[in-house]
Amino acid sequence: MESGDGGTIRRQLSADINEMIYLDHAATSWPKPPEVLRAMTAFLESTGGNPGRSGHRLSIEAGRIVYDARESLAELFNAPDPLRVVFTHNATHAINLALSGLIRPGDHIVTSSIEHNAMMRPLRALEKKGVRISVVRCASDGALDPKDVASAMTSQTRIVAMAHSSNVTGTILPVREIADIAHGKGALLLLDAAQSAGILPLDMTALEVDLLAFTGHKGLQGPPGTGGLIIGERLNTTEMDPLVRGGTGSRSESEYQPEDCPDKFESGTPNGSGIAGLGAGVRWILGRGVDAIRAHEIEMTRALMGGLRSIPGISVYGPADPENRVAIVSFTAAGYSVSRIGLALDDEYGIMSRVGLHCAPAAHRTIGTFPEGTVRFAPGVMTTGDEVRAAVDAVARVVSRPSR
Ligand code: ALA
Repeated sequence: MESGDGGTIRRQLSADINEMIYLDHAATSWPKPPEVLRAMTAFLESTGGNPGRSGHRLSIEAGRIVYDARESLAELFNAPDPLRVVFTHNATHAINLALSGLIRPGDHIVTSSIEHNAMMRPLRALEKKGVRISVVRCASDGALDPKDVASAMTSQTRIVAMAHSSNVTGTILPVREIADIAHGKGALLLLDAAQSAGILPLDMTALEVDLLAFTGHKGLQGPPGTGGLIIGERLNTTEMDPLVRGGTGSRSESEYQPEDCPDKFESGTPNGSGIAGLGAGVRWILGRGVDAIRAHEIEMTRALMGGLRSIPGISVYGPADPENRVAIVSFTAAGYSVSRIGLALDDEYGIMSRVGLHCAPAAHRTIGTFPEGTVRFAPGVMTTGDEVRAAVDAVARVVSRPSR
């Protein structure tokens, strides 16, 4: 393609971008704050060294940027120590690291029925290796009763592994109560914060979360390919095996994996530019304050739910009170396929949603929308009230047509 053609396409894309309404922040946040883009570009343009590997200034500067990101994450989540922030590619990688590193045949795990496949698939794989899994049934709005978690616990329970909030209904799970139940039986709490990090206040020390799995590219405003597992003080990191072994830039005299955290769990060259962007995203969140972000998202969720509920034939899923959910609103329209609605919203109105099962078949079974799924709107920190009103109007128009 000639450069002139490329320029035309780029101009066309940017014109379309200005007209888009992006309501898919639960899949990935977009657009990213300019600070994130600048940090990534600066890393690639002028830092560029391999963190923790070489002794020259570019490597040292890259190491400082990676450590700054660890510190910012530790501040945001009130983690016990920045060195217990382990970088991974995403939340899925973090969950797999925790489960495969700690669970042995004969162990028992308690989970919920609203989990994403990031949790369910590793659990089902462990089940085939002799691990017992108990799936605690949530209510049809995704709510989890801690008493049901308590009833599922056994003396063999090693981990209670759950989402902080559902990626289908937005339902927030009662983390503190579940932590008490887990610890009362000598088990650990693994929290999947993919849909809550940077969105809900999340003090892992106060909530007594032992393993916090997060992704960088959603609420934390960072790029894809970033995430992490933060390990609480209750767990001695010598008890957890790494998922990958290899070079760490430390203790290079040994052919055996070091025990020091985070090196034990971070073999291979890290995603330096991604982590630079993630650090900038976290600092952007800290600058705004999670409470302010949460207040804005509750307002958007309330407007979205109210507007959708006023349209005849629409069913909105999840808790009735926006305070009990993150900014995720799933709905169906009687007589209309979700894919038809999603396509019409994109093609005709430039509105981005995610339709179907959202990689969470268990959650859809729980709320009664399996196998068709739902249309999911997920506003973000940059979503405006006008955009929400336009999305509601567009849905009303799409579902006023003859159904098929
Ligand atoms: N897990 C992401 C979602 O729910 C991708 O859309």
